[in-house]
Amino acid sequence: MQTVTTIKNLAAVIKHWKRLGLSIALVPTMGNLHAGHLKLVSEAKAKADKVVVSIFVNPTQFSMGEDFDTYPRTHSQDAALLAALDVDVLFLPGVTEIYPSPIRTLVSVSVISDLHCGVSRPRHFDGVATIVCKLFNIVQPDIAFFGEKDFQQLAIIRTMVRDLNIPVIIVSVPTVREADGLAMSSRNSYLTPEQREIAPKLYQSLRAAQQGVLAGTHAFSHIEQHERQLLRLAGFAVEYFSICRVTDLLPANPSDNDLVILAAAKLGKTRLIDNIQFKIKALTVDSP
Ligand code: PAF
Repeated sequence: MQTVTTIKNLAAVIKHWKRLGLSIALVPTMGNLHAGHLKLVSEAKAKADKVVVSIFVNPTQFSMGEDFDTYPRTHSQDAALLAALDVDVLFLPGVTEIYPSPIRTLVSVSVISDLHCGVSRPRHFDGVATIVCKLFNIVQPDIAFFGEKDFQQLAIIRTMVRDLNIPVIIVSVPTVREADGLAMSSRNSYLTPEQREIAPKLYQSLRAAQQGVLAGTHAFSHIEQHERQLLRLAGFAVEYFSICRVTDLLPANPSDNDLVILAAAKLGKTRLIDNIQFKIKALTVDSP
């Protein structure tokens, strides 16, 4: 595996591959790799001739007071994991390589970026869409891989690619979970042992809400309120817990059948997000 830190050197590698007619996959990450990332990489390996993994803790997607400075940076450990998976290139640029001058152009996917995580993290998704767009321009991949744990991020990236005619196929990969159901995340390392015990309750609540919907409960807001309350009692500060339509991430109603329940909650300072996606047969709504 080759580690490349500059856009210029990466461009030379990409040009060579393109000349040979090889397909290129990109797995964008912020590092501190776990089994969820490694699943993205193995899917990428299966689908393309060459795989580039980027590790870049992107400052523009963090707000003041968030964990940009303390975000775990474990580059040598990450590089060893990627080399073992036979990744072709690790792209590891510094902040000034990606943002050499103050950025004047942002990619902003309207409406959907203001919902859910966008409420407590204003402009977060502009930072995400901008860096992903930049990485697409730098790496010029045919295909790129993202985890379903960040469901809203995935929807925003798909929208950006559609709206801007970006010629990259977006592949989503199911969330990888610990044995007790906790979704793998780099931020799980912030949890104290006591918080780590409580953390799987977020996924348990999502499952319980899913069961409620599948059992035919029409009052989605009651399900949401009940689960929010249980999470609060368990020690979470709940940011949102919403039964939504997959198509636009707006609140679902009983006639929708392609659903996702999205949740974000804090345990102490650690913010956890998770979701569960499922289909239901359209329920019969009582006529007035
Ligand atoms: O999901 C992440 O790790 C980041 O948001 C991404 C897509 C690598 C952009 O910085």
